[in-house]
Amino acid sequence: MARILTGIQSSGKPHLGNVLGAIIPAIELSQKKDNESYFFIADLHSLTTIKDGDTRKNNVYEVAAAWLAFGFNTDQNVFYRQSDLPQVTELTWYLNCFTPYPMLANAHSFKDKSDRLSDVNAGLFDYPVLMAADILLYDANLVPVGKDQQQHLEMTRDIAGAVNHQAGKELLIVPEAHIQENVMTVPGTDGQKMSKSYGNTLDLFAPKNTLKKQVMGITTDSTPLEEPKNPDTCNVFALYELIANEKQVAVMRSNYLAGGYGYGHAKKELLNLLLEKFAEQRERFDYYMSDTALIEQELSKGAQKAQKVANEVIARMREALGFGVINR
Ligand code: ADP
Ligand code: TRP
Repeated sequence: MARILTGIQSSGKPHLGNVLGAIIPAIELSQKKDNESYFFIADLHSLTTIKDGDTRKNNVYEVAAAWLAFGFNTDQNVFYRQSDLPQVTELTWYLNCFTPYPMLANAHSFKDKSDRLSDVNAGLFDYPVLMAADILLYDANLVPVGKDQQQHLEMTRDIAGAVNHQAGKELLIVPEAHIQENVMTVPGTDGQKMSKSYGNTLDLFAPKNTLKKQVMGITTDSTPLEEPKNPDTCNVFALYELIANEKQVAVMRSNYLAGGYGYGHAKKELLNLLLEKFAEQRERFDYYMSDTALIEQELSKGAQKAQKVANEVIARMREALGFGVINR
């Protein structure tokens, strides 16, 4: 059985791009027979940029509520909050001491972030080692990530290799990256890639009025209502196509081509479809957010399951490195 592990950034309410590009595909992967998935919310990583505690806690809840709303099976898999297993910070220290400084100094994501951010802290620099600890602490075999994380995975493999070399045996499991090459890119309301950092999101879990405003704000050209329109260059159509069934898409296409059908009509259809198709998930999201103790229960169930392997791996490391034995 392959153990699949991935970290989810805890950056608050997921948008339509996160849902279609990350949540739904990961849940589908977790449903494959013979896979056991460890999915965790990477709240320790968020400390590199977010310092306010209430914001962090709420962001974790929103992310967790979204995954639960989409039906991630927390009985068959392991769903937890990174910081609930502090063993990961202990392992990070051990791994730090096997990580060559230039490896971190050359990380693309560090270079990129240190150019952009005003707060360039040591946590940001050490981010890839914490990520390696996330993976190695749970004996993960396979790590599905986007291309932007490929270098971090290579570092994880190198660090594990260095530890194993020192130990003279396979003390840590060297994971394989599962790079998702052709994941869909969901366009934002301005036609660029949908992203929180561009302020062009459709917030699937927002109240209806907010979502409506966002949909109505999708950029379109100025073709007059009566004239035929090109569906293939239109943002509204591109988004509709991602969620509608074949028949619905064909109907909208012919409406565009026929003329007399305005962008306002198309936006209304898109909004209605979003609300209808995701009605259940929106309701479940609100249900969890209105009672965050339920989320805490789910996360603590996951943390309990994750303890076992985490303690085993830490014990292996402590023994190999000559630290004392402690019982947890
Ligand atoms: P954001 O760009 O809004 O900050 P993140 O970088 O936190 O989003 O992305 C979290 C996950 O959602 C990643 O797996 C990413 O590939 C996926 N994702 C984000 N935006 C999109 C998008 N527009 N289309 C498809 N997938 C996306
Ligand atoms: N760094 C990843 C990202 O930015 C999130 C992450 C943290 C992660 N720890 C991980 C992904 C471990 C896979 C495995 O998306």
